[in-house]
Amino acid sequence: MIKSPRGTSDVLPPESAKWIYLEGIVREVARRYNFDEIRLPTFEHSELFSRTVGETTDIVEKEMYTFKDKTGRDLTLRPEGTAGVARAFVEHGMASGPLPRKFYYLGSMFRYERPQAGRYREHRQFGVEIFGSPSPHSDVEVITLAMDIAEELGLTGTELYINSIGCPKCRGPYKEALIAYLTPHIDELCEDCRSRLTRNPLRALDCKSERCKALVAGAPSSLDYLCGECKEHWDRFREILTAVGIPYTVDKSLVRGLDYYTRTVFELKWPPLGPAGSTLCGGGRYDGLVEQLGGPPVAGVGFGMGLERMLLANEKGEKPIQAGGEIDVFIVCPKGGEGEDKGFEREARLQELARAFRRKGLRCDFDPLQRSMKAQMKQADRMNARFVVILGEDEFRSRSASVRSMRHGWQKTVPIEEVLATIEEAGQNG
Ligand code: HAM
Repeated sequence: MIKSPRGTSDVLPPESAKWIYLEGIVREVARRYNFDEIRLPTFEHSELFSRTVGETTDIVEKEMYTFKDKTGRDLTLRPEGTAGVARAFVEHGMASGPLPRKFYYLGSMFRYERPQAGRYREHRQFGVEIFGSPSPHSDVEVITLAMDIAEELGLTGTELYINSIGCPKCRGPYKEALIAYLTPHIDELCEDCRSRLTRNPLRALDCKSERCKALVAGAPSSLDYLCGECKEHWDRFREILTAVGIPYTVDKSLVRGLDYYTRTVFELKWPPLGPAGSTLCGGGRYDGLVEQLGGPPVAGVGFGMGLERMLLANEKGEKPIQAGGEIDVFIVCPKGGEGEDKGFEREARLQELARAFRRKGLRCDFDPLQRSMKAQMKQADRMNARFVVILGEDEFRSRSASVRSMRHGWQKTVPIEEVLATIEEAGQNG
């Protein structure tokens, strides 16, 4: 038997109904914040990620699904969304249009990671990006957007962690300080951190190895090395958060595992999910990214949100999404007897009636296999039908049908032209 690859998952009904609901919520909240959807390729030139996410990050070094196409192009299934959006922003000359531009995206991301609860090789992500606003108001705006989604999904008690990792100007002295701090402990660092020490010492700060974690606990903080402008941005950012009543924790070790970040970095966590998967979303500023991809200097800020994690959290939270649910109408129409010309005329009526319901927006079904009355009533029950319409031989002979409310137990026989009106009248409560 061929199974789905490790770290991927099939979303089957009724679970898929939860996804539709979740995607509806994230789209709706994005709409309220005036973000527009952007749809981009699932694979890009590998160079896009190595140049922006960074050569010395776990994502690029270990986790990318990279392949050569038939003409030898070096391509990669996108491990994240920001680089692609920035690429499209530059490619389509959007910097010369009106700014800021606000985008959101939904889609699969691919990372060769060790699969565990809340961590997969293909995960689905919702992300937002704002281009052209260096203002800390935009940092707060994306954070409140993420929090509003969490709230809509019944997640109370989310925790916001923030930090600032400065700009390339303050990054230089900070890197030096980090290297000076880590060098005496070089033998205690894991192999990755040792090899990245001089090129990218910040990576040691988000290393997953327990020994590195213990070591970096006492490392210098980027906050002590911020240049004047970055410090001002950081102060203003926190002032706005406080002014709008968003509690936060400053986490000096938060650097995030992607190299394009500048200044603000943040993560929104929901502790009941447990340590491995508790980060619902992560994001930050990337003021140098557009320029790095050949565009003019345009600031950026955004986040990515893991949708599997949002669903896992939702199940444990206060407003679990109800999947599957019910159908509005099931039409029971068993096969005709000998005397009824096999019931062909009645069957045609069945199709017509079903279509009339569907065109009115009702979710309607019938049994195409035309099993017995008893079997079809069972089917209606299993589908949790609100109404059953019985189109039996007797009813049809008198040009009528019986309408039964499964919730309230009443049943009426009405002329066939009045079936739809009867159900509409009974409405949602019927
Ligand atoms: P990231 O932190 O790598 O950031 O991913 C964002 C979110 O995607 C995580 O917080 C997590 O919820 C989810 N996620 C990541 N990897 C996995 C996985 N293997 N399995 C399940 N969920 C996962 C980024 O990707 C940045 N592009 C975010 C961003 C946008 N920054 C600025 N703009």
